[in-house]
Amino acid sequence: MAEAGLRGEGFVLRPWREADLESLLAHADDEQVARGVSDRFPSPYTRADGEAFLAGRVVDLADPVLAIEIDGQACGGIGARPGTGERAHSAEIGYWLGRAHWGKGTMTRAVSVFAPWVMRELALYRLHATVLGFNIGSAQVLRRNGFLEEGVQRAAVFKRGVLHDLRVFAKVRRNLDDDH
Ligand SMILES: CC(C)(COP(=O)(O)OP(=O)(O)OC[C@H]1O[C@@H](n2cnc3c(N)ncnc32)[C@H](O)[C@@H]1OP(=O)(O)O)[C@@H](O)C(=O)NCCC(=O)NCCS
Repeated sequence: MAEAGLRGEGFVLRPWREADLESLLAHADDEQVARGVSDRFPSPYTRADGEAFLAGRVVDLADPVLAIEIDGQACGGIGARPGTGERAHSAEIGYWLGRAHWGKGTMTRAVSVFAPWVMRELALYRLHATVLGFNIGSAQVLRRNGFLEEGVQRAAVFKRGVLHDLRVFAKVRRNLDDDH
């Protein structure tokens, strides 16, 4: 990924930088953000958590893991984690956005830029996402981008004392020359 990144309407998707620490903390330290994503995204989100993330100690930043930059600030993230071995043709997408920017179609547009790019870049046949049962907004982001709901992993997540179903969405292509 070139430092200049991928441009969308109202945002740029580009690699994380050390200088993103303050804006990362400002947007990530929010229980309303953390509740929708994995526990690798803590709440409270401390300075040490931000430093660990930017140093690549939380997720592998060699994977396509990009900041969502809005008005010069890193306000969220989007990334894909490829499988290994016989699952290397497939990856899981994940994303989050600071609450100040919710409800403006930003993540719908970010996924519309990122998903085709990452499928091409990693030569993927499959890109999937898992969504906690209550997360209607995220399910809608995926549907808007042509992900199909494949089913539900029942009682798959126990998070903060509550049991959740996990909805599985995916976009697939059977031929690497196909559009997606
Ligand atoms: C989920 C999230 C990424 C949505 O980002 P966003 O930029 O606000 O989403 P959009 O504005 O593109 O909205 C997409 C659609 O979902 C709907 N939507 C968004 N939030 C919603 C909510 N809380 N409840 C119901 N619908 C919602 C929007 O109305 C829109 O619907 P439309 O396409 O019919 O107009 C954002 O709320 C977020 O970062 N949440 C915390 C982290 C998270 O849950 N990540 C996803 C993990 S799977």
